[in-house]
Amino acid sequence: MPYIDTVALDEQNSALVIIDQTQLPNEEIKLTLTEQNDIWKAIQTLQVRGAPAIGIAASIGLYLAAKETNAENYSTFIDEVKAAKEYLASSRPTAVNLFWALDRMEKVALNHRDKSVTEIKDLMRDEAVKIKNEDELVCRSIGEHGLSLIKDGWGILTHCNAGRLAASKYGTALAPVYIGHERGYKLKVFVDETRPLLQGARLTAYELMSAGIDTTLICDNMASQVMKNGWVQVVFTGADRVAANGDACNKIGTSGVAVLAKHYGIPFYICAPTSTVDMRSATGADIPIEERDAAEVTEMWYKERMAPEGVKVYNPAFDCTGNELITAIITEHGIVKPPFNEGLLKMIDNGR
Ligand code: MRU
Repeated sequence: MPYIDTVALDEQNSALVIIDQTQLPNEEIKLTLTEQNDIWKAIQTLQVRGAPAIGIAASIGLYLAAKETNAENYSTFIDEVKAAKEYLASSRPTAVNLFWALDRMEKVALNHRDKSVTEIKDLMRDEAVKIKNEDELVCRSIGEHGLSLIKDGWGILTHCNAGRLAASKYGTALAPVYIGHERGYKLKVFVDETRPLLQGARLTAYELMSAGIDTTLICDNMASQVMKNGWVQVVFTGADRVAANGDACNKIGTSGVAVLAKHYGIPFYICAPTSTVDMRSATGADIPIEERDAAEVTEMWYKERMAPEGVKVYNPAFDCTGNELITAIITEHGIVKPPFNEGLLKMIDNGR
């Protein structure tokens, strides 16, 4: 299986290296980013995307900001780190991994005020590398737990891209598929194209096919038909933020898939690391939903504009799937079944 390094630190060149996801599947272009505004833009424009990958990119970005500062004393240094953190945090609002990773990085600087600025910079580099390495293990573990829920030969439906392009290696929702594939399972994956930005068509189909996995692309409005045909035995999706009560915010359209799955009696699983669980959001209603440019709906991907000039457009990038539609949440520490509040707390405690 080819390994695409989605997001990495190039220490020698003081750069964040990403694969430009806006150019996939037609071109595999690596970007070497050294400027904070380019890193911010890469996250905002989805050149790097997916909750875990955004967190990793931001942690490397904050390390680079710290590394580049000329501050000689702690107080100037920490002020600059805080300003850089705030800037990177403003790139996208929904995926909590962004804020989780930036908090972790800032904490390193705050907890080592007794050390020299040079030493703190080194510790921040180590933390950024750790965040990335941990993610690979976490995804693998989600994959093992997810695989325990499925059988050889099953049809799996997924939405958006929660694979290796969204994380450091296995991804979350696609981790059970990759691990099953390693073990010789013959799984059939149905991929929602995922309007308006086509993460399913452009990214999920691309990475699954590169790995030699049986992949069928469908338009978002075809999910009901493939479920009705009996081709889907399970749904796996990722999440950008899971609230304390288990409501799960993910790419727009996910909640519709969950409603369909319930209708057809198909289990619907959210695969997410505990870093995606935000206990400060009591329910999905507390999660900020990003709204994006109308042109993503009216013009992008088309040869010419496909909606009347001046039409009102609503373009939320995410929706929240109510916990009543979720069969279980698969984390790196295990599978959480309803009631979610208690189970999620236990999972987070397991990681401490
Ligand atoms: O807007 P995107 O492409 O960043 O949205 C990504 C998703 O919604 C993913 O499903 C989610 O981040 C989980 S990635 C493991």
